[in-house]
Amino acid sequence: MKHLILAPLRGFTDAVFRNAFQRHFQGIDEALAPFVTSIKGRRIKPSHLRDLAPADNRAMPIVPQILSNNIDEFIRLANTLINLGYGEINWNLGCPYPMVAKKMRGSGLLPHPDIIDRMLEKTLHGFAGSLSIKTRLGRFSADEMDRLIPVFNRYPLARVIVHPRTGVQMYAGNVDLKAFESCLANISHPVIYNGDINDLAMFQSLESRLPVVSGWMLGRGLIANPFLPEMIQSGTRLICHGKARFEQFHDDLVDEYSRLFSGPGHVLDRMKGFWRYFASGLSDGSQILKKIRKAGSLGRYRQVVAAVLDGQDIWIGQASVPDER
Ligand SMILES: Cc1cc2nc3c(=O)[nH]c(=O)nc-3n(C[C@H](O)[C@H](O)[C@H](O)COP(=O)(O)O)c2cc1C
Repeated sequence: MKHLILAPLRGFTDAVFRNAFQRHFQGIDEALAPFVTSIKGRRIKPSHLRDLAPADNRAMPIVPQILSNNIDEFIRLANTLINLGYGEINWNLGCPYPMVAKKMRGSGLLPHPDIIDRMLEKTLHGFAGSLSIKTRLGRFSADEMDRLIPVFNRYPLARVIVHPRTGVQMYAGNVDLKAFESCLANISHPVIYNGDINDLAMFQSLESRLPVVSGWMLGRGLIANPFLPEMIQSGTRLICHGKARFEQFHDDLVDEYSRLFSGPGHVLDRMKGFWRYFASGLSDGSQILKKIRKAGSLGRYRQVVAAVLDGQDIWIGQASVPDER
């Protein structure tokens, strides 16, 4: 079995999605939860950690992720999460969005290995759990890795997840596999590959090129085609009862979000967001997306989705994941 990890996608892979995914699909071993930001002040409100409530996170092992550049805040939040029962905390060094990066958080820290060094030294002394990192190759250039790897190697990190793009690249252009190979050769911790695993063929070509990775993290490709982990684990694109299973998963999401959110408008918005990815796994995806986005109420949305799924024979399982811009 390959070790497959669900990637964090804020606004998508929350506890509702993770639990529904596990009820309807197989093949994923664990999930990294979308980041929570560290906050000033003494008290961390339970609402800040609602997505990580242990009672809602029993379907699969979860690693919480923190976005922070402040040592004390990081330690306080990490300890709060450890007290909730989590064993590993992940530090987000990859978020590419300018609003985050300009404030020297996420990928904005990557040009500053000295700050990362200090954060690692202090935080690793400050809490009892283990720490992993999710990173890009750099903020502006993949060369930043040359100065980051010796810092990462100085500390007992549980693992390093690498998405081989720079922060300024956002999601454009190809993943840099040569740079990833260099990370794999030089990082002394277990290394996880993440980026653009959108179909079985892509996975298989990566697997033959990178046989020594410790695991694979799937994000947009999994949302676009939730059967992808099963395809990867079985090595075949054949899926039984694809449409019926997708339909049940979809309806489960609508029901669970209806319980969680305060009104149907929020549920509708969330579900329309998912269709950006779901539609890319279907043959006439852009037409479908247009129809779904037009739905003005949750009732109308349900009708449109039922008609869309009625017209699909099988899940084609060949997502061409949309550009993020
Ligand atoms: C909408 C969106 C939200 C994301 N949220 C997070 C996040 O909270 N934490 C994180 O480390 N990465 C986040 N990412 C990055 C993904 O985890 C992943 O690294 C990226 O999408 C590349 O993998 P993929 O090609 O398999 O999707 C996000 C990406 C997207 C598109």
